[in-house]
Amino acid sequence: MDKNINKNGKIKIGLIGLGTVGSGVYKTLESFKNIEVVKIAVRNVNKKRNIPNLDESIITGDPYEVVNDPEIQIVVELIGGLNPAFDLIKTAIKNGKHIVTANKELLAKHGEELFTFAEEHNKVVLYEAAIAGGIPIIMPIKTILAGNKITRIEAILNGTTNYILTKMDMQGASYEQVLNEAQALGYAEADPTGDVEGFDAAYKITTLATLAFRKRIKIEDVYREGITKVRSEDMQAANDLGYKIKLIASAYLDEQGRADVRVHPMLVSKKSTLAHIDYVTNAVSLTGHPVGSVTLSGPGAGEFPTASSVVGDILAIAAELGTTDYLLPMMRCKHESDAEMIDILDTENKYYISINAQNNKGVIGTIGTICAQNDISLASIVQRCVSDDNTADITVITELVKEKNMRNAIKLIEQDGNKVNSLIRVQV
Ligand code: HSE
Repeated sequence: MDKNINKNGKIKIGLIGLGTVGSGVYKTLESFKNIEVVKIAVRNVNKKRNIPNLDESIITGDPYEVVNDPEIQIVVELIGGLNPAFDLIKTAIKNGKHIVTANKELLAKHGEELFTFAEEHNKVVLYEAAIAGGIPIIMPIKTILAGNKITRIEAILNGTTNYILTKMDMQGASYEQVLNEAQALGYAEADPTGDVEGFDAAYKITTLATLAFRKRIKIEDVYREGITKVRSEDMQAANDLGYKIKLIASAYLDEQGRADVRVHPMLVSKKSTLAHIDYVTNAVSLTGHPVGSVTLSGPGAGEFPTASSVVGDILAIAAELGTTDYLLPMMRCKHESDAEMIDILDTENKYYISINAQNNKGVIGTIGTICAQNDISLASIVQRCVSDDNTADITVITELVKEKNMRNAIKLIEQDGNKVNSLIRVQV
């Protein structure tokens, strides 16, 4: 049985990482008298930190001092990335420690190996902070929603891109303009690739869908498109048609149990909850039986919101240490099989298409004919404006069509001398 009574009767925590989230965790844990942070590993031991009651004597530059410390019962990993985080966590588990982590990349890429390893050593790995920061979503799925068959998730899981899209929408500004502003204000990183190309959201939806569907989703099977091609003209057209454009991470399970997991920009109806999630706020909408639809929203990042999730996980482990040989059975990840995946080409979607065409007689008819030949039924087709160069912007919304057919039609529309500026899927 794990021991929880030692020298001063407190549960001993080791922190790896004392950045924004680590600082929030340290400050929050100060008010819990049964918990003591006994060692903290940082990259730069000489860095000045704005943590008033920080005990400098427990800081080390060597994270292996944390994972090898026999006194520590729970290791909190907040450095992110694969290396050295994965080896540190495995070493900590081998040394008998439970793990709390916010490492979305590690979970998405090595979740299966990590959870199997932890189970073999009878240790738990909790990760509430890895998905949607301060929003409680992992524990609710594992506990109070456990009786549900969840078949649909649509979520905004990346604050940076939601901030950029919100600003583009409000200011009528271009992606580049807003990205530059966001970088100047510190909302977007100097290298924004992980956020704007959808990698961050893809890591999160991979882990979330694996948990919700109780089947392993592999990150390489998750379709991903970022927001870099979204234009202010698309924002305007979407608004006129009754939609907002959001970067949506989604996961659907069909009646045969096949999974379709993706991240891409999406036109969402202004009537839907997700259309109203703005700036850095995140939200997760789940649909399952018997609960129906549930949406949770809140801060997806930040010092204290993320600390809230990390500390909740620490307290869950701390509450059971010393009371049982097999703690937190509902919190353990045991996936029996890999999910059968549906290829994006075989999915059915509605599409918004923006085409720049020569303003010639019959151009709309030709586009309609190409669509009909590819079994694509149109919900609307609007010529929005004619430019000085005698080209016209034509906006099309389709009914549900196969992705394969849509891509073929786009190819033919372009071969006919038109330019397809945007192809964005529409929420169904
Ligand atoms: N880069 C992430 C975001 C931070 O923008 O949401 C939280 O994972």
